[in-house]
Amino acid sequence: MTEEDNWLNKIEMGVGAWAWGDRWFWGFGGKYHEKDVQEAFEASLNAGIRLIDTAEAYAQGESERLVGKFVHNSSERFYIATKFMPFPWRLGKGTLKRSLRNSLERLGMEKVDLYQMHWPIPPISIENWMNRMAEVHQAGLVDGIGVSNYDRTQTQRAFEELTRLGIRLASNQVEYHLLDRRIEKSGLLKQCQELGIRVIAYSPLAQGLLTGKYSAQIPPRGVRGSRVTKTTLEKLQGLIAQMRKIGVLHGDKTPAQVALNWVICKGALPIPGAKNQAQAVQNAGALGWRLSEEAIELLDDAADKVSG
Ligand SMILES: NC(=O)c1ccc[n+]([C@@H]2O[C@H](COP(=O)([O-])OP(=O)(O)OC[C@H]3O[C@@H](n4cnc5c(N)ncnc54)[C@H](OP(=O)(O)O)[C@@H]3O)[C@@H](O)[C@H]2O)c1
Repeated sequence: MTEEDNWLNKIEMGVGAWAWGDRWFWGFGGKYHEKDVQEAFEASLNAGIRLIDTAEAYAQGESERLVGKFVHNSSERFYIATKFMPFPWRLGKGTLKRSLRNSLERLGMEKVDLYQMHWPIPPISIENWMNRMAEVHQAGLVDGIGVSNYDRTQTQRAFEELTRLGIRLASNQVEYHLLDRRIEKSGLLKQCQELGIRVIAYSPLAQGLLTGKYSAQIPPRGVRGSRVTKTTLEKLQGLIAQMRKIGVLHGDKTPAQVALNWVICKGALPIPGAKNQAQAVQNAGALGWRLSEEAIELLDDAADKVSG
């Protein structure tokens, strides 16, 4: 695949499907159900969003099952990205291909557009995994090969091994949003851009924090709530206020739309999760406009005051 062929470069935003079916972290089956996520899917489709990100690990395969079901009921062409989890006990040579076949079965597809190595987990080396990825690519089961949560060195190793095999590394999916700018600071974003690797930004709304609906008084519930401190929630309000001001100046955009547009302006591809129609519609409103340079600088400064 050449850089021009990297279809990911033509995609501005996708939708993340981790919450579709996930009870433990996101509470599927409580306040939202299959009907809600189906409506989120349809709203994304209506807004022109065609990339869906899922993983075998999401809801023990239920996310892939739901994605497959929704996509099959639609006549549109979708780009489906899923992931392989290299658990340390997955040592056998055929595990990746077997896992991929299981994903394909749940998705009801013969091929996925993007197959990503979910995490860099030892003991199998990156080079070894890339060889196994190359095998399923050559077998016609996956189009693009991606990695996820890879740092600079790991990305370079994956890129070089695939290049040696005549394949371009299509993407690196990493956490990236206003409250987590490690990839800017470490140089990973720049490195990927220079190598023609599309950066896919996960949790681009900081798992809901950047929508402006959470505060020290109204923290996120469940597992998510236990991962964020009261101090962060208090400091966050300054950033949210700045996002609201900037949103007004850009045609009444919401904090969520400002957060997603910021990611796009930085040259990455956000894949916000949406649990229902309203969230998907709002997130799609991040497309079709651009934050000014000045606004980006103001947001960077305000974000630094929250996360340092
Ligand atoms: N590769 C990896 O290791 C990895 C890790 C994490 C995620 N991901 C991928 O990235 C995708 C997105 O990340 P994420 O789901 O962790 O976080 P996110 O996209 O930052 O946040 C999604 C959550 O924010 C809330 N939300 C979304 N849109 C909203 C809106 N417009 N208004 C108000 N609330 C809104 C919803 O939760 P509430 O309504 O409950 O607040 C939603 O579930 C995942 O679905 C997955 O595909 C990948």
